[in-house]
Amino acid sequence: MKVLVIGAGGREHALAWQCAKDDKVEKVYVAPGNAGTALEPKCQNIVLENKNTDNEHSAVIEFCQYNDIDIVIVGPEAPLVTGIIDACRDAGIKAWGPTAYCAQLEGSKTFAKEFMQNNNIPTAAYQGFTDAASAKVYVDEQGAPIVIKADGLAAGKGVIVAETTEQAYAAIDDMLADNKFGDAGSRVVIEQFLQGEEASFICMIDGDNILPMATSQDHKRAFEGDTGPNTGGMGAYSPAPVVTDDVHNKVMTQVIQPVVDAMKTAGHPYTGFLYAGLMIDDAGNPSVIEFNCRFGDPETQPILMRLQSSIVDLVAAGLAGQLPDEADWDKRPALGIVIASKGYPETSSKGDVISGLPELDDQQFVKVFHAGTDFAKEADNLDANINANAQNDSDREIVTNGGRVVCVTALADSISDAQQAALTVAGAISFEGAHYRRDIGHQAIARES
Ligand code: AMP
Ligand code: GLY
Repeated sequence: MKVLVIGAGGREHALAWQCAKDDKVEKVYVAPGNAGTALEPKCQNIVLENKNTDNEHSAVIEFCQYNDIDIVIVGPEAPLVTGIIDACRDAGIKAWGPTAYCAQLEGSKTFAKEFMQNNNIPTAAYQGFTDAASAKVYVDEQGAPIVIKADGLAAGKGVIVAETTEQAYAAIDDMLADNKFGDAGSRVVIEQFLQGEEASFICMIDGDNILPMATSQDHKRAFEGDTGPNTGGMGAYSPAPVVTDDVHNKVMTQVIQPVVDAMKTAGHPYTGFLYAGLMIDDAGNPSVIEFNCRFGDPETQPILMRLQSSIVDLVAAGLAGQLPDEADWDKRPALGIVIASKGYPETSSKGDVISGLPELDDQQFVKVFHAGTDFAKEADNLDANINANAQNDSDREIVTNGGRVVCVTALADSISDAQQAALTVAGAISFEGAHYRRDIGHQAIARES
């Protein structure tokens, strides 16, 4: 079989690595991938550039047709929101993910909030605004803390949890008046502040059947102690003890099943990964903070480290409408620590040399998934006659190429052991401005002791 994974992050490295483990798979193409996917056995990075301006997904379609790709797995939200699944289906290509209609659950906070309200899915009370003055009046009525969200896609950074009304005003001005988030922030959703513990609940859905992935918890804030700005995620672990069997049942009946039923009724059956970001209160009641129409990043890395079923078999079953209701998981927990580059999340770095990455062969219980990495452009240093591409990838220097650089993920007998194992490997990896949190998993570790 041949698989194409779309995306360039840690999630895609983990997906490609899992696909390549299946003996049936002869080749995994990753578009565009990163240095980690380039080095992975059976994997090859490719660049897909569109020449057809009428169909922004035509390069993917042509590649799949020309190379007899059996399965496409789409990692990030952007192509899903713009209809890559619809385009592939129209061309007869088997691609795993939700249609553009269903992807609105992530692509528009307003769509998601209305959908939840219409289908009695528990979520924070909210109101949507396009004009700053009325948004501020609403903030005055509700008081702080209160949460301001850009309506569109903002890479996990379009949410401000305002502790004071002044902070709320500033966020409203940034988004609505100063256009800091571009189109994504031309409309804002203002919602009630929820208290509790967060968890990520990710499923595979084939239109009808639901296969829950192992539970997980992300750490969205940049700094230790869950302080600092929101990021795309600085680390995650699986399973999340806050999701007890009772909470699991509630999430399935109050959140996931209603999505599946409502999308089917609307004539747009939900297919692909569905990610519910949850707040779980003291009584174990879940509320949806957000829906994502894809696997989480960095949640994918620890979750897939534990997956013992073949991800290719699961996706193939999903594409055939025959998802099983359970997958096989390693009982041991896994924990991933993201090493970010200088200035993340406000800015990020490119081209800083990374040292201390472990050899691929050593990575059985600790795996370094790459995200913002690339090979150094060595052409400048070489004799002009030598083509840099002819060099073996494994001999080339690896450099930073984005905000989240790698996710060091460890499997161990307890969350605290996994944290220690990941920290040891993370401590050996260095590049200019590298920073990471040493407290990933603190909530679960507090429960363990
Ligand atoms: P989102 O991008 O919607 O997941 O929001 C990013 C982060 O902001 C979440 O992971 C929460 O930590 C926080 N957050 C978002 N909405 C709320 C809310 N209504 N109440 C409390 N915290 C929230
Ligand atoms: N880790 C959060 C996300 O994938 O959106």
